[in-house]
Amino acid sequence: MNPALVHELSHALIRHKLTLMREKDRSTSGFRRLLKEIALLMAYELTRDMPTSEFEIETPLEKTTGRVIDGKKTVLVPILRAGLGLVDGMLEVVPGARVGHIGLYRDPQTLAAVEYYFKVPEHMDERDVIVLDPMLATGHSAAAAVTRLKAVRPRSIRFACLLAAPEGLAHFHGVHPEVPVTTCAIDRELNDHGYILPGLGDAGDRIFGTK
Ligand code: URA
Repeated sequence: MNPALVHELSHALIRHKLTLMREKDRSTSGFRRLLKEIALLMAYELTRDMPTSEFEIETPLEKTTGRVIDGKKTVLVPILRAGLGLVDGMLEVVPGARVGHIGLYRDPQTLAAVEYYFKVPEHMDERDVIVLDPMLATGHSAAAAVTRLKAVRPRSIRFACLLAAPEGLAHFHGVHPEVPVTTCAIDRELNDHGYILPGLGDAGDRIFGTK
């Protein structure tokens, strides 16, 4: 892991909501609502250094200039399917953002990540990508998604998750040492099945109520 490029969010509201989400008896609707609220808070951090340009306006009293963000330059790219859970909350803060999608599955024989879906906007060289997945567990799909996205040459790329495992951060930064990671918490470890401990279980199942 590259500690300089791992940003662990410490806001009390994020910690509070994350603790509630981890509880095993939290309902699907409650889990989803909390995830949306956390995503909104994460978007504040992720957009902190976004480029702004000067913009002329007229107040009721006089003409002046301010700074505005061009939201269309941001592309949220959820990794299917759990990454979808972070999109709505972020769009509340950056409503003009574009949304790409990437779908990957693990080949059972080779264990390599295989792409089954990929769609991003045109002119990626002018856009800043935020790759979304609630769980950075082994880091394999995150690293594969970023490798694929680098091929379309975005202006910048960063990765955002709710929970990261130390093993996943090490793998991810082994492959992409320069890509910043924003996470709400770094948990203890992975178990033998690749789940994060203490974690929150299977994020996709909890978002979509499939278990
Ligand atoms: N994916 C999940 O949804 N949960 C984990 O703990 C690890 C990977």
